[in-house]
Amino acid sequence: MIRSAGIILLAVGTAGAAFAQGAGKPDLADGRQHFEQSCGVCHTKPLVTSGRFGPALSKASLGGQADVMAEVIGNGIPLRMPGFRHQLSQEQIRAVVAYIQTLDPPPPEDAKPTARTSGERRDDN
Ligand code: HEC
Repeated sequence: MIRSAGIILLAVGTAGAAFAQGAGKPDLADGRQHFEQSCGVCHTKPLVTSGRFGPALSKASLGGQADVMAEVIGNGIPLRMPGFRHQLSQEQIRAVVAYIQTLDPPPPEDAKPTARTSGERRDDN
């Protein structure tokens, strides 16, 4: 009896900690996972030889302003980038922004998009 009461207390304690975390700092691991799943296709270059459709993102993007970044992620950029407000919760967007703000800016020549956009002709594939 005493033993099971201990287990219940432990369970309640863990739930309390998880709640406190949700309300406090954004979850960087969660942000990284969403970034890789939803943004990596356009914003990262998995191989040296791959193209990248969007600019590299870092703590310097959009002047490092978290609220502006969250707005761009939620609403997207017409014809260029989809908005994510239906796929990601505010909490998840906050986590993605927090993750981006841990990334150092790349050297300027590496930051630009490298893939050709759909309007251009591609002769090599
Ligand atoms: C379909 C490709 C695509 C996806 C997916 C995408 N983006 Fe973008 N994003 C772009 C492009 C292209 C631009 C540049 C638009 C421009 O400058 O006209 C951009 C711009 C941005 C900017 C502004 C950068 C700057 O320096 O001006 C931020 C911040 C950003 N994206 C964040 C994200 C995040 C976070 C995700 C994932 C949740 C994401 N994007 C998913 C294509 C994409």
